[in-house]
Amino acid sequence: MENLLRTGIREAVRSLYGKDASDDQLQIQKTRKEFEGDLTLVAFPLASLSQRSPEKTAGEIGEYLAAHLDAVSGYNVIKGFLNVTIAPAEWARTLQEISGVTRYGFMVPGPEAETVVIEYSSPNTNKPLHLGHIRNNLLGFSLSRICEAAGNNVIRTNIVNDRGIHICKSMVAWQKFANGATPATTGKKGDHFVGDYYVLFEKQLREEAEKLIAAGATPEEARDNAPLMQEARRMLVKWEAGDPDTVSLWQMMNSWVYEGFDVTYRALGVEFDKIYYESDTYKVGKEIVLRSLGEGHLVRRDDGSVWIDLTADKLDQKLLLRSDGTAVYMTQDLGTAVIRYNDYHFNRHIYVVGNEQNYHFQVLALTLLRMGYDWAGGLHHFSYGMVELPEGKMKSREGKVVDADDLIAEMTETATVMSQELGKLGGYNETEKRNICRQIGLGALKYYILKVDPRKNMTFNPAESIDFNGNTGPFIQYTYARIRSVMKKAGETGVKAANETVGGVIPNLKEVSVIKLLNDFPALVREAATGMSPALIANYCYELAREFNQFYHDFTILGESDEMLRSFRLRLSEMTGKVLESGLWLLGIEAPERM
Ligand code: ARG
Repeated sequence: MENLLRTGIREAVRSLYGKDASDDQLQIQKTRKEFEGDLTLVAFPLASLSQRSPEKTAGEIGEYLAAHLDAVSGYNVIKGFLNVTIAPAEWARTLQEISGVTRYGFMVPGPEAETVVIEYSSPNTNKPLHLGHIRNNLLGFSLSRICEAAGNNVIRTNIVNDRGIHICKSMVAWQKFANGATPATTGKKGDHFVGDYYVLFEKQLREEAEKLIAAGATPEEARDNAPLMQEARRMLVKWEAGDPDTVSLWQMMNSWVYEGFDVTYRALGVEFDKIYYESDTYKVGKEIVLRSLGEGHLVRRDDGSVWIDLTADKLDQKLLLRSDGTAVYMTQDLGTAVIRYNDYHFNRHIYVVGNEQNYHFQVLALTLLRMGYDWAGGLHHFSYGMVELPEGKMKSREGKVVDADDLIAEMTETATVMSQELGKLGGYNETEKRNICRQIGLGALKYYILKVDPRKNMTFNPAESIDFNGNTGPFIQYTYARIRSVMKKAGETGVKAANETVGGVIPNLKEVSVIKLLNDFPALVREAATGMSPALIANYCYELAREFNQFYHDFTILGESDEMLRSFRLRLSEMTGKVLESGLWLLGIEAPERM
């Protein structure tokens, strides 16, 4: 469409002013919503060729286009901007053209494709995943698909925090209180099993500390000196020294946790290409800190600790190694980044991590740059806000966070209840019903979380998220299923969309609106990738579903007696279905064939 106009304008300039316009001088953009028109020519750069004001130039070119191009049905000029309206017949040709494109909207990585590493999830092995992780995983996974669709090579990655004092706490509690119980003997999911021992440790620790406080200790002293805490610390020292029993206990308990995490990831539908472990990367972190200290980029204090001074960059001084030589959180991330760069030579590395770590990632990138790693200019923190449930809804049971597995199960439950109330799901067997309700429940959860600006804090409202008539995942899924059912019926009755005739129809306004949106899809995917915005895709899907439903409400498809028109509408429906399916796929949402 844009190319057609470009050629037309070039001709206009040649015929009106006898000059050739360069590519730079032909600035065409989508017409802004508040103006009439589809495409807008910015006439300012052409004024030097026309020797007239931009406004006059725009008017003359508009007149020429309307007279000479069938595709242009009207124009208006606002200041130096020429807004061009494309004729309905041209939109039909557009539909014909785009419906012949394979994997419409998806780019194949070319030779100059970028490699983008995306890190998301990154849990700790002492607790199961919670609602915050859900937001993290959904954003990260969707972003990975969007970047891939925009033609990048994407590596999905995760860093597991599997070492440190908090991990030792659950190990100590298990040793003392479990009597050899395992996830297998108790039937508990591994991550929950281990998480329970972490909670138990904290509870026992509190009791021990209370006794010490009663005997006169301050709260900090009490926690510090409590026998359990000392035991956890001894365990950490043993672990760092590679004590075989400690290491094998650690391996066993972590393997339980990973089995549990896998179940949650599978239920959420997210996956990873490569998982890193802090128990490996902290060592590389220590090495590069020491090397960098030798190169004079860092400072060693009298107590032996190592720091980087970022005050010149308006940040502060940051600890990189403790006085006893042990690693801190930053040390690990330095190591992880260097290892990942060596593994993939990425152009960009996106960290999907909550906004409470904004400062951490600023320091990380700057520290690496100071150490001489120029590629650290490609590090990007994709920062997102908190997510909560409305008061009273599974909220912080006994002060605990909202568990991911519980929430996922509850979404399927809610979807089942709501579908039954609405009298849907007739004629399905139990397995089909469960599967559809799972798709709806998860679609609701994912869409609700992804449609909002990630930087904002949000409240996830389960009932609202499933509303079949609202701006929800199920509304879009339902529109898709409706299209599939039309296509199925068409197949059964032998009605086909004859592509040769699709472009010969003059579409009505509703049809034009749908085609315009379909035509926007590829550019939108690129924009979502550049702007790192799953929300853009989400809201586009909603708009497309809504426009299609309006068309569907007002016009008949298979009942249309004019064969060419019927064929055209069928193609329009099919293409809408394809784009909705692709859009949902980019969000990690399944598109049910029937609902
Ligand atoms: N495990 C950390 C936490 O639970 C998040 C890790 C984020 N990623 C990173 N590269 N620092 O807070």
